[in-house]
Amino acid sequence: MEQTLVILKPSAIHRALVGKIIDRFQKKGLVITGMKMMQLDEKILREHYAHLVEKPFFPSLLESMMAAPVIVMCLEGKDCVEVVRMMTGATNGRKALPGTIRGDYSMSGQENIVHASDSIENGQIELARFFKPEEIFKYTPSDLRFFYAPDEI
Ligand code: TYD
Repeated sequence: MEQTLVILKPSAIHRALVGKIIDRFQKKGLVITGMKMMQLDEKILREHYAHLVEKPFFPSLLESMMAAPVIVMCLEGKDCVEVVRMMTGATNGRKALPGTIRGDYSMSGQENIVHASDSIENGQIELARFFKPEEIFKYTPSDLRFFYAPDEI
């Protein structure tokens, strides 16, 4: 099954939204195969947001992402990367559609609650950045057949 990286950002931690967000992913049928809390530092954030280091908002983004420990998750499911990005919504919470995580919980382009990988390839790169191989687990949820048709799994 496809995998993606989700980060519950400091805005999710400080606003006590962790349970609500994890609940959405699980109810959807995505399987949690890795999850831990960690404090991010400048080194890992410069790697993770390498495409943004020259932007004027980068120092503020750094501070925001280090304002509390985060929760990193590996989610698995069919077409997981696309499904999770749809559930996450547009980057700016004010533009994200209602029903998405950012659309329901964020009014900000920076304090936007979650990160989700934007491609299968980046998902694999990002998972390797935040998890050791042994921190991602292989198991089959008992009720998978009620989430998918036989030819989908
Ligand atoms: P980006 O990778 O463009 O978006 P996404 O998180 O939707 O994949 O940006 C990464 C993060 O940088 C974004 O979640 C919040 C922050 N950011 C800002 O603070 N201001 C901005 O104008 C942009 C584009 C991003």
